[in-house]
Amino acid sequence: MTAPFIPPPPHFPGGPAPGRPAPDLPGPPAPSVLAVCSGKGGVGKSTVALNLAVALAGMGERVGLLDADLHAPDIPLMLGLARKAPARSWTLARAGGFDRTPLEPVEHSGVLVMSTGFIIAEDQALAWTAELVEALLRQLLWSTRWGPLDRLVIDLPPGTSDLVQAVFRLLPGAGAVVVVTPQDAAHLDTRRMLTALRTAGGRILGGIENMSGLDCPHCGTRISVFPPVARERSVWAAGVPRLAEVPMDAEGAEPVVLASPDSARGKALRAAAGAVRDADRPGATPTVTGPG
Ligand SMILES: Nc1ncnc2c1ncn2[C@@H]1O[C@H](COP(=O)(O)OP(=O)(O)OP(=O)(O)O)[C@@H](O)[C@H]1O
Ligand SMILES: [Mg+2]
Repeated sequence: MTAPFIPPPPHFPGGPAPGRPAPDLPGPPAPSVLAVCSGKGGVGKSTVALNLAVALAGMGERVGLLDADLHAPDIPLMLGLARKAPARSWTLARAGGFDRTPLEPVEHSGVLVMSTGFIIAEDQALAWTAELVEALLRQLLWSTRWGPLDRLVIDLPPGTSDLVQAVFRLLPGAGAVVVVTPQDAAHLDTRRMLTALRTAGGRILGGIENMSGLDCPHCGTRISVFPPVARERSVWAAGVPRLAEVPMDAEGAEPVVLASPDSARGKALRAAAGAVRDADRPGATPTVTGPG
């Protein structure tokens, strides 16, 4: 069956023409930027972003991890770092001037971490207009004292919110790492997001299927937890290379690639980091794994 033609939306408002770098911006904080994204919430973006960053650092890279989820900055929680009161010294610089208020990243598990959660308290409420979102993102990207980095991993909120749009607009070379669970809704919502990303000239490196099954603790057989997703409705059918499959596994503290590197999930996430790194090499043709 051929999918009906749906005209793509215009490129992200205010952004450069598709494939064009935005003018008047500093270069990216690292030569390689990986933006971990999904159309759906709760599929494991933050877990994957954290473990990719730590695994890449374990391969000898200097890695920064930016938790850019304004409404649910989960990386500090996963690492046991949380701010109870608003940061006193932090001022949001609007247009320009974003290098006057340096932000110190926290080093954890071999990675330099910066999070909206470090500057906004857990119960601090802010009304985020698109302009404020972009100003905050610019600060996080360019006021953070990253030092020299080989790679910056960005954990994004779900969907195509102002923040997600701003990331791809401000960092036109960023490679999208798409996370899905093997569920219809995750694939369909992510396909919608991919249409917007592609129209905006985004570079899609590939996808990671998270919670892709469960290894039976008794016999080790991998069990499918969700009903199968029809191939034609999947992101794989929409041309996203499947880079890795990460099983469901509640064992082990985060980051699991450090805490339990030889668990099924630890191994799969280390393999995912290698696959993402290979897919991000200039001119790489990603290896597609699984039945895809
Ligand atoms: N492979 C897995 N096996 C078991 N639990 C997992 C796995 N991946 C993620 N989880 C758990 O699922 C929950 C959601 O994961 P996570 O916060 O990474 O998702 P997210 O996509 O970042 O969510 P949000 O959209 O809210 O930012 C967490 O409790 C996490 O520990
Ligand atoms: Mg998250």
